[in-house]
Amino acid sequence: MLFERPGGGEKAVLVHVDFGNELEREDPEEFVQLVTSAGGDPVCFIRGQRRQPQPRYFIGKGKLDEIAAAVEEHCADLVLFNHALSPGQERNLEAVLKCRVLDRTGLILDIFALRARTHEGKLQVELAQLEHLSSRLIRGWTHLERQKGGIGMRGPGETQLESDRRMVRDRIKSLHARLDKVRRHRALSRRARTRAELPSVSLVGYTNAGKSTLFNRFTGADAYAADQLFATLDPTLRRVELADIGPAIFADTVGFIRHLPHKLVESFRATLEEAIEADLLVHVIDCASDERSEQRKQVYDVLRDIGADSTPVLEVYNKVDLTGMAPRIDRDDTGKITRVWLSALSGEGLDLLGSALSELLATDLIEKHIRLSPEQGGLRSRFYALSAVTDEQFNDDGSAELTLRLPRADFVREMRRAGLG
Ligand code: GTP
Repeated sequence: MLFERPGGGEKAVLVHVDFGNELEREDPEEFVQLVTSAGGDPVCFIRGQRRQPQPRYFIGKGKLDEIAAAVEEHCADLVLFNHALSPGQERNLEAVLKCRVLDRTGLILDIFALRARTHEGKLQVELAQLEHLSSRLIRGWTHLERQKGGIGMRGPGETQLESDRRMVRDRIKSLHARLDKVRRHRALSRRARTRAELPSVSLVGYTNAGKSTLFNRFTGADAYAADQLFATLDPTLRRVELADIGPAIFADTVGFIRHLPHKLVESFRATLEEAIEADLLVHVIDCASDERSEQRKQVYDVLRDIGADSTPVLEVYNKVDLTGMAPRIDRDDTGKITRVWLSALSGEGLDLLGSALSELLATDLIEKHIRLSPEQGGLRSRFYALSAVTDEQFNDDGSAELTLRLPRADFVREMRRAGLG
């Protein structure tokens, strides 16, 4: 096992630079949350302003001195940047600061490493970490203390990194092979589920929006909800009963975050496949957050990146208890439901979510193949009356194989009327 799990509590100096560009802006509060989620102890927060990153050190000489002084004063174990650093910048900073330096990607990967629970999740994280680190293997780790573990070091130990790049490459190759196998397996079980033809709903949303809380309340499950970022890394699936629809599959997915490097999104694609393949996405938004419109946009960006932008979306504005608003359903000009306002924590408005889901899924056009015996002719003619039959074949025993395309609610209703639902 390449990964080690040391105790947390490392003293970290945090560095955040404003580049005056609204779009590129990272949220400093979120940064602190990321650090504590990784088990770090922020001892000092240094902010700066620049027009653009300095090529060698990312920051200017004055800021560098300030950080060095803070590291010394607080006996810090590491310095964390709320930005992506190049391997060269990390190396140069470490040489000057004489302690570990980690960028935002490294930090997020570290949290992923802490959170992954399933076999597949763990393999994905290990792979993403190794790929992120392999570009950094050139750096002179020897100037750092030879301790293992800690934030950003919950990965390959440094001796291994410096001594054997080939081993890392081999490990990456073997991880790819193992992941392929796990994914083939997953694809099979997903196909089995599709065959069971249950409608599927995936929760997506910015990290900490309240997805797991909603998932638990709505499915009566006990998934892990915590005030920690990325508490849910692996998709969790539950079966729920929806009025007029019957059973449906509910999936909780990994939280999204701004500036997730593209490569990282790619490597978590498999985890997010649940989201891609859902019939409906429930996009959970923290309506009490000042950053909610930016976070909302980030989620749509990631959905576009993973090719899930054509799946219908229901937006759930969560945490209305914090804003004093009453739960409600919003509709567009055509009467279609677009938003539900609720509180996953207090449970207010959960019934509205249930009816919104039933209504949205009911109008979904679905394709079904069924086999009907000659005695079930009544059902066959009702499907014809609904103009739902797109193909029909007869078997020697007189039974008919029908291919149907119709709104889900019509199918559920007719099957139930015939005593088959
Ligand atoms: P990730 O796993 O990071 O993606 O987070 P998540 O979206 O699954 O969020 P989670 O359910 O873990 O909730 C994050 C925090 O928000 C927890 O402290 C919850 O108790 C809190 N929370 C969730 N829903 C509500 C709500 O309706 N009202 C209030 N006041 N707090 C909520």
